[in-house]
Amino acid sequence: MLNLAILGSGGGSNAQAIIDHFEGSTLARVALVVSNSPGAYILERAQRAGIPTRCLASEAERSASNQLALYRTHSIHLIVLAGYLRKVPKGVIQAYPGRILNIHPSLLPKFGGKGMHGLHVHEAVLAAVETHTGITIHYVNEEYDQGEILHQHKLAIEPGWDAQRLQQEVQKLEHTYYPKIVQQVCEEIVAAQPNFALS
Ligand code: GRF
Repeated sequence: MLNLAILGSGGGSNAQAIIDHFEGSTLARVALVVSNSPGAYILERAQRAGIPTRCLASEAERSASNQLALYRTHSIHLIVLAGYLRKVPKGVIQAYPGRILNIHPSLLPKFGGKGMHGLHVHEAVLAAVETHTGITIHYVNEEYDQGEILHQHKLAIEPGWDAQRLQQEVQKLEHTYYPKIVQQVCEEIVAAQPNFALS
């Protein structure tokens, strides 16, 4: 059984989709939910699902050594970022090569990078008069939104859509595809190291 940690700063709708997807799975389980924000709804969702949570509110609490100790305690194999607005420390990225995923609400490399989160992304897409937008699921490296892309899904923008509507449509895609891609990555990890399936 693979143990997933989900990191998020906000509402946690993607975390919820992943929690629901892996309920009853023999491949992987959400073993920990982490947030930098004490009031984040993602923590409440996890608690409701009986998943251990941890809030890392300060820079010191989010240090690589502290996070790695936490992930070791919960035997975390894969880290899933879902609306996480803090940088993952270098030490964590190095300790989890190819084992940290992120989702971004645009077709990267367009509309990515620092400050590009939430409605800002969709406002920028509309301001650029794009005909399409979409989602990107990628591995995390040391630069924001620049890791190797695993999956993209395109969406045609309908006339009259505002940034809120665009966000809603993009989130529907996220909830459909993120759990599937996380599952695919879990299957690849198990295929490469079959003993995971036994633990
Ligand atoms: C999602 O749109 C995701 O693409 C971005 O942050 C948002 C998180 O939403 N990285 P939620 O917390 O999962 O509802």
